[in-house]
Amino acid sequence: MIRIAIANQKGGVGKTTTAINMATAMAATGWKTLLIDLDPQGNASTGTGIDSRQRELSSYDVLLGEATVAEAVVPSSIPGLDVLPATVDLSGAEIELVDFEDRAGRLRRALAGHVGHDVCFIDCPPSLGLLTLNALTAADTLLVPLQCEFFALEGLSQLLQTVEKVQQVFNPDLGIVGVALTMFDRRNRLTDQVSEDVRGCLGNLVFESVIPRNVRLSEAPSHGLPALIYDHSCAGSRAYMALARELISRLPEKRKAA
Ligand SMILES: Nc1ncnc2c1ncn2[C@@H]1O[C@H](COP(=O)(O)OP(=O)(O)OP(=O)(O)O)[C@@H](O)[C@H]1O
Ligand SMILES: [Mg+2]
Repeated sequence: MIRIAIANQKGGVGKTTTAINMATAMAATGWKTLLIDLDPQGNASTGTGIDSRQRELSSYDVLLGEATVAEAVVPSSIPGLDVLPATVDLSGAEIELVDFEDRAGRLRRALAGHVGHDVCFIDCPPSLGLLTLNALTAADTLLVPLQCEFFALEGLSQLLQTVEKVQQVFNPDLGIVGVALTMFDRRNRLTDQVSEDVRGCLGNLVFESVIPRNVRLSEAPSHGLPALIYDHSCAGSRAYMALARELISRLPEKRKAA
C-alpha cells in the first residue's frame, strides 16, 4: 500500500477537501483506497458520510494499540473507498501517546503488514504535533495543499523543516510528491502573485493542476459526500480529477499497476 500524508500546519487550507476528493478519484480509477482521518475534528469522516455509530472504533484506538486498522476500518458509500474514522477522543491522544516509547511510530507500526488497500491518504490536523508526526513517519510521501495567501511560503518553510527532521530521525524514505495550490481565485491579484512566487521557489514540485475556489466543493461535506460524487462536473471536481491524474503519474512505476 502506498501511503500519502496530506499535511499543512496552517488551518483551513483545503487538506480535508483534498484528502476526500483525491481518495474518491483514486477509488474511481480502480485503486482500493483507504482514507485515514487523523484529525480530532473528524471532518474527513463526516465528509465521506461516516456517522457516529460507525465510529465505535477509530484512529484513536489504532494509535493506542487497542484495535487493528482492519478492525477499525468502515466502508463508505463510495465503491472502493474505506475510511478509518476519527472521533474527538483523538484530541487526547497527543498527550496519551507521550507515555509510549515509539510515540511517533504508532501509525507506521499499525499500518505495517496491513493488506486489502492499494493506497491510503492520511488527513492531518492543522498542527505539527504528535498526530502529524505519526502521519509523516508512516507515510511514503507527502502532499501539501497550499492556499495562495501572503504567509503561505513562511508556513511552508516551517513544514519543510519538519519534514527534514522526520527524514533524519524517523523516516529516511519520506518524499514530497507535490504541492497543490488550493482555493485559487483568478480575479484576485494577490493569489496570482503568490502562486508565481511559489512556483518560482519550488519549481516542478508544484502540481500544474490548480484547485479553484468553488462553492460546490464547500457544499458537498454537508451532504456527507465528496464533491466528486455530489457534483462530478463542477469546476472543483474536474480540477481534483486532473490533480489525481497528475498524482498517479508521479507515483513510482511499480505502484501504478494497481
Ligand atoms: N477550493 C475550495 N473552494 C471553496 N471552498 C473550499 C475549497 N476547499 C476547501 N473549501 C472549504 O474551506 C473550508 C476549509 O477547507 P478544509 O476543511 O478542506 O481545510 P483543512 O485544511 O482541512 O482545515 P483544517 O485545518 O481545519 O483541518 C471548508 O469549509 C471547505 O469546505
Ligand atoms: Mg481538515
